[in-house]
Amino acid sequence: MRILSGIQPSGKLHLGNFFGAITEHVRLQDEPGAECFYFIADYHALTTLRDAPTLRALCRDVALDYLALGLDPEKAVFYRQSDLQEVHELAWFLASVTGMGLLERAHSYKDKVAKGVRPSVGLFNYPVLMAADILIVKPDFVPVGQDQVQHIEMAQDMAQSFNAAFNCEVLRRPEPLLSATPRVPGTDGEKMSKSYGNTIDIFAEGKALKKSVMGIVTRPIDMGQPLPVEGDSVLALQALFSSEDEMRELEKAYREGSIGYGDAKKSLLAKIDARFAQARERRRELAAKPSYVDDVLREGAERARQVGRVTIEECRAAAGILPSMR
Ligand code: ADP
Ligand code: TRP
Repeated sequence: MRILSGIQPSGKLHLGNFFGAITEHVRLQDEPGAECFYFIADYHALTTLRDAPTLRALCRDVALDYLALGLDPEKAVFYRQSDLQEVHELAWFLASVTGMGLLERAHSYKDKVAKGVRPSVGLFNYPVLMAADILIVKPDFVPVGQDQVQHIEMAQDMAQSFNAAFNCEVLRRPEPLLSATPRVPGTDGEKMSKSYGNTIDIFAEGKALKKSVMGIVTRPIDMGQPLPVEGDSVLALQALFSSEDEMRELEKAYREGSIGYGDAKKSLLAKIDARFAQARERRRELAAKPSYVDDVLREGAERARQVGRVTIEECRAAAGILPSMR
């Protein structure tokens, strides 16, 4: 069973990324028979990020974050998208067999345009590059959050279009794989996302962490009054860190009015701190090893290329492009 997923280095990783994707990535590397490929989607970040030093720093940060959270380079292939150049060649093959209509239906593109983003060709083409990231490795499953499911369905369509166009079976249909919490709410109740400024960051500490947790938007209800349980962001975030018994207690306190939002937030803050204390420590240790991240990514790139080159030669043969002379 082959698994692949990617993450954009477009900002700091947050609880949505963790509970929607990263926990699954780390869990799957221990599944018997699983071959995992995880990569940092640096070319994708160019659709929003136009500052070279920032992109370089974020790439290293995301790599350190993943390694500190448990990605084990002995078990999973970990690489940068930009080290697998074959992805761009596959993206062209896919673009050549994909109708404009498919891309015009992409929710994430339509949402961004609706929010006033002036779309580049790259943003429109984003699902093609993402399909190439996936199909180049021929995974069975792609573990992601809810927001990425449509992109994976588009990759399924593109694999099928390629195989049909060239009468071959080269590309494999990938299936999305969702975690138990595929849509974590942000501090404003919307989907938590780097681009909405509503995140609680995994590696935030001290004042910064306190500020984002205490800033979770709640209703104006006096102390001692019952708090509504439905649609409450503090409870939804508490559920990520609490047992069923703890949640029952907390909901009871909400209904009885024996807890205020301030205390519910403080207890959430303590749980976040405890949950990530070890990962923070590990991150500091890894960051102190000068070439560790580069060594891991270099080795991952080599292993990913071995797989990518085979897929590309198969695509070339199917489409009538002569084998590469490299
Ligand atoms: P962002 O929306 O903050 O830019 P990314 O698009 O880089 O996050 O997402 C990386 C991974 O984390 C993807 O698999 C995505 O589906 C998942 N993810 C992002 N936000 C959430 C969320 N709020 N809940 C669950 N999963 C999420
Ligand atoms: N689009 C994904 C996101 O924003 C990142 C990504 C790029 C990805 N290529 C991928 C995820 C391939 C899974 C598979 O989160």
